Amino acid sequence: MARFASHIFVCCNVREPGHSRGCCDPDGSESLRNAFAAELKKHQLELPVRANRAGCLDQCEYGPAVVIYPQQIWYGRVTPADVPRIVVETVLNGRVIEELQIPDQCLNTKGKVPWPAP
Ligand code: FES
Repeated sequence: MARFASHIFVCCNVREPGHSRGCCDPDGSESLRNAFAAELKKHQLELPVRANRAGCLDQCEYGPAVVIYPQQIWYGRVTPADVPRIVVETVLNGRVIEELQIPDQCLNTKGKVPWPAP
């Protein structure tokens, strides 16, 4: 089996309404992961790329959160409308979309560092 070029981990974690950290998939529909899976199918990829359902990625305050490995690119506030651009720009062409990238200084801070900056 061919190696995977990338794994796109899409947080599909659901928490009860009103939880202090919120969650990335409040209606439990996995619509974001499904959008990635559908978009990837449209492209003839030389090496396979998977869009995997993930539990909490611990970037809840910046969610919906997505991380692409092995590139270690973290995206936040991702909507299904962003998916075609992420696939073309980042997955196919290796470019980081800066306005979606969670800055390194925000990762694992439980939202204590505001992003986007006020
Ligand atoms: S609920 Fe999605 S990162 Fe925590």
